[in-house]
Amino acid sequence: MRALNLNRETPTMSRPQAKCIGILTSGGDCPGLNAAIRGVAKPAISDFHMDVVGIEKGFRGLVENHARVLHLEDISGILSLGGTILGTSREKFHKMPLPNGEVIDMTPRAVETYNRLGLDCLVVLGGNGTHKAAHQLTKHGLNVIGLPKTIDNDLAETDFTFGFNSAVTTAAEAIEKLYSTAEAHLRVMVIELMGHNAGWLALHAGIAGGADVILIPEIPYDLDSVCQHLTARRRRGKWFSIIAVAEGARPKTANSSEEKKDKKPKKKAENGDSLTDADKGVSTAVAHAISQRLDMDTRVTVLGHLQRGGIPTPFDRVLATHFGTYATEMLAAGKYNHMVCLRGSEVTSVPLEKVAGRTKLVPLDHPLIKSARLVGTNFGD
Ligand code: F6P
Repeated sequence: MRALNLNRETPTMSRPQAKCIGILTSGGDCPGLNAAIRGVAKPAISDFHMDVVGIEKGFRGLVENHARVLHLEDISGILSLGGTILGTSREKFHKMPLPNGEVIDMTPRAVETYNRLGLDCLVVLGGNGTHKAAHQLTKHGLNVIGLPKTIDNDLAETDFTFGFNSAVTTAAEAIEKLYSTAEAHLRVMVIELMGHNAGWLALHAGIAGGADVILIPEIPYDLDSVCQHLTARRRRGKWFSIIAVAEGARPKTANSSEEKKDKKPKKKAENGDSLTDADKGVSTAVAHAISQRLDMDTRVTVLGHLQRGGIPTPFDRVLATHFGTYATEMLAAGKYNHMVCLRGSEVTSVPLEKVAGRTKLVPLDHPLIKSARLVGTNFGD
């Protein structure tokens, strides 16, 4: 990754533009958040002599003024720590749930906390929802810098988010482990990975783990195609297979948004009846259909939050550190209202308005899809 190039904007280290900054983590956690917090706070404190305020539990902390000054000892030894030392939540200041179930707009309280703390800029570490909210804050006069994190890798304008590589590593390892037991029992193992809208995680982990079939939300699947692929494998003497499926994958018939809504797995059976296969999730539906059609023994693994837990990979530690330190140089230069991003091997930044409200899906002509097909992977199409 190349060094930061802020040209004439970079001030002398002794006179940073931002003197007091806030930092918060928002949305689902992921490995690398603490590395990024350290990447921002360490140079901010040591090199630029800024005051750094940690805001706890995401935007709720901003609304309720849950803040504490971060000192060097607070960020020591956290580089490889999973989770986030600041805590996180999915709540947004403009839709804050109250204990009585009411949801209210607390934007004025968030702005008030920012001003009361005397912040020059707020650094938010988050995914799509967080960056959309961050952009809203800029419209209320706050200075914000975003750092892209999510295991889904679905943020626009950045090639990679931190957390993604760690999740791919966990998921690929799980797929690999399923192979020996699949082969021993001659079973079809269906593994469900996270990714409601975007299939980046299933695509990368599926390729890395050598899955025979990869089903992602961007490519509606046809069970006939999947079954034909498994049958062809049987003809070649492969009586076992692995199917990696993103939780948001949908069958071909569920094309319109209305149909998609209908097919979304429900958390609970609404009338108290037991859950149907479709209700239990896409992996159960796929496994059940295969066992019915091909008379093959199937098993389902839902990897769930294991994909978000644990220590960040070295790649994510490096990326999060680079994003964090780059953000601090932007703070020193007074370059606000941007999200730090990765373009190729270069860390740079992009205006928040170009990111807000956009989701980066896997393009159908993505080279990795072609590459996976060339090694014999079926995408259910
Ligand atoms: O962080 C994004 C994500 O990993 C999605 O892929 C997944 O559907 C979701 O989080 C689940 O998060 P939670 O259980 O925290 O709501």
